[in-house]
Amino acid sequence: MRDFQPKTIIEPFRIRSVEPVHFTTRAQREAALQAAGYNPFLLRADDVLIDLLTDSGTGAMSSRQWAGMIASDESYAGASSFYRFEAAVRDITGFKHVIPTHQGRAAENILFTTIAKPGDVIPNNTHFDTTRAHVEHSGAEARDLVIAEGRQPRLIHPFKGNMNIEALEETIRTVGRERIPAIMLTVTNNSGGGQPVSMANVRAVSAVARQHGIPFLIDACRFAENSWFIKMREEGYADKTPMEIAKELFSYADGCTMSAKKDGMANIGGFLAVNDDDLAAQCRNLEILTEGFPTYGGMAGYDLEAIAQGLYEALDENYLRYRIRSIAYLGDRLIEAGVPIVQPTGGHAVYLDARAMLPHIAPTQYPAWSLNNALYLIGGVRGVEIGTVMFGMQPDGTEQPASMDLVRLAFPRRTYTQSHVDYLAEVILEVFAQRAELPPYKIVYQAPVLRHFTIRLAPITS
Ligand code: F0G
Repeated sequence: MRDFQPKTIIEPFRIRSVEPVHFTTRAQREAALQAAGYNPFLLRADDVLIDLLTDSGTGAMSSRQWAGMIASDESYAGASSFYRFEAAVRDITGFKHVIPTHQGRAAENILFTTIAKPGDVIPNNTHFDTTRAHVEHSGAEARDLVIAEGRQPRLIHPFKGNMNIEALEETIRTVGRERIPAIMLTVTNNSGGGQPVSMANVRAVSAVARQHGIPFLIDACRFAENSWFIKMREEGYADKTPMEIAKELFSYADGCTMSAKKDGMANIGGFLAVNDDDLAAQCRNLEILTEGFPTYGGMAGYDLEAIAQGLYEALDENYLRYRIRSIAYLGDRLIEAGVPIVQPTGGHAVYLDARAMLPHIAPTQYPAWSLNNALYLIGGVRGVEIGTVMFGMQPDGTEQPASMDLVRLAFPRRTYTQSHVDYLAEVILEVFAQRAELPPYKIVYQAPVLRHFTIRLAPITS
């Protein structure tokens, strides 16, 4: 018999514990959304059928992770669970000092409070919203230097998360090395469409940073997904394992921040890892103040265990092949039907291009917000706006259109199956058919920072 080469990429797991999803009627969703001030963040999760708000902390854990959690060491200081966590982080990243934090933004807070001050500039391909907020909270400027291709939703490029090296050099020339305490690179570039960064670009950013003596740090939330894209798309990496690729990627940097709620495959947790002894000592002092003793850093011993195991599972080839394919599967169906999305599809999410889909809604009347709410009303699906509500408010209080108005449909890891995705495609196509009827929105209440979490809006019905 000849060998069989299946075309179907199946979920690389079977399911032993299940959780019901919640069905609602259209009238219930209308009432729920209105009560939530038309802000999906303020909905009760029980009123959502398919929840694609985020891939952060929402995934399913493996039996091995649960086993580790049961066997955890909850000692306040020096717990064996910490040493397992530290060994896993060191094994994969190679960084000397591993500082646990309760999630990614806590690592950002410790880092930027320690290294940044007013007048400084932190370059990144694209800062995620919490990263930007922490940079700005320290008084520094968060500067996005993604390549021009990365800002054009339908332009196909294998590594749209790359940083513009000339713009980086220009920034160093004009700002001055002494006002740049670090250069960051976000892998994959979440706010830019979940797009990967090539190894060549990581190497180039590292070379510029070293030439000027500036620390180079990676925002590593989705390092495993980025490693898979390098394997698939970059010459010379096809035969390397995701682990080998991840190790090389980290080898060019001086440290990283990490939200273990993504490629740590955990429900909570994160870390800051750096090579510099002085920086680590300063960060640990602040950590004790804000997170806890440096061998738990805001996490339980069982969280440390879940991450120590999860980091390796995220690098499993069968998992990554299924993970990236399941996102592309939705993307392909939408592209085929003419729905404008960011292309190529990203690693953890499909990004709908609301500005292109809803030309009758001006960016300052929040087209992506409107699209996201329509997905909820029609199909009980919750995504998140990555657009003018999230990024439009400037530090001086004025309102500017964001560079793109997108709805991100982020996939929790190992959680939804193919029939959920088929349903999702049906909902999106229905909203697409009704797109001309989607209303613009206006803001009714907003907070001064990270306003999207608590904002209240109202549809403009003229
Ligand atoms: N950096 C990136 C690139 C992120 O995507 C996130 C979180 C963080 C930092 C902060 O990590 O949430 O653990 O504090 N992103 C989530 C999301 C919230 O939905 O994309 P955190």
